[in-house]
Amino acid sequence: MNSVFVTGTDTDVGKTRISVAIIELLQRQGKRVAAMKPIASGCELTIDGLRNDDALQLSQQANVDLPYQLINPYAFEPAIAPHIAAEQVETAIKLALIKQNFDLIQQQSDAVVVEGAGGWLVPLNQTETMADLAISLDLPVILVVDIRLGCINHALLTVKAIESTGLKLQGWIANNLGHNPESIEIVETLTQRIWAPCLGYVPRLEAHESAADYLVLN
Ligand SMILES: Nc1ncnc2c1ncn2[C@@H]1O[C@H](COP(=O)(O)OP(=O)(O)O)[C@@H](O)[C@H]1O
Ligand SMILES: [Mg+2]
Repeated sequence: MNSVFVTGTDTDVGKTRISVAIIELLQRQGKRVAAMKPIASGCELTIDGLRNDDALQLSQQANVDLPYQLINPYAFEPAIAPHIAAEQVETAIKLALIKQNFDLIQQQSDAVVVEGAGGWLVPLNQTETMADLAISLDLPVILVVDIRLGCINHALLTVKAIESTGLKLQGWIANNLGHNPESIEIVETLTQRIWAPCLGYVPRLEAHESAADYLVLN
């Protein structure tokens, strides 16, 4: 496995935590691994400009040194839907710019792990969504599912939407196992209904623990 697009059933489901683990696993294979968080809201204003915690976590794990703007070209301060945040500062999110950055990053690395924002159909502007970003980068997709009440519907809808793009669903990851008392039954249900492989069963981890040892990338 090389470059991937990491999406999730929702915001706060573990996309960043799992992306960091995927970077770590690819590095164990001796690869130069870069990361991208192309669009981020909820950024902090620093003396260097707007900075997003996800982008910082990903680049901290990555072993290709890149300027921040290349990793996160669209950074918005309020923690709101990206297209609304973009409108508020009269910015248009352009997929062509993200693709240009991605190509530059790809040239300097063996693999690029790209984290989306929110879920699969989050709007980016009037006409495009996060799905169009994955299509424009032409990447296989990994879906992170937070195993909680409601996730079956969210996961199956997202799988359908990914399939409809023609992109490859590389696999899905069951995250936060054990947090919900029906975790095992939920995972069984998803396994029966999602044809793509489950690439990891990740339990609820301590803050310092990595999810890497729970993933099997093929
Ligand atoms: N398996 C896990 N065990 C414990 N905490 C987790 C796990 N997965 C995610 N988290 C925590 O949940 C929060 C949301 O995860 P994050 O990766 O930031 O989600 P997303 O990127 O989808 O918004 C973070 O504080 C993260 O450390
Ligand atoms: Mg995140």
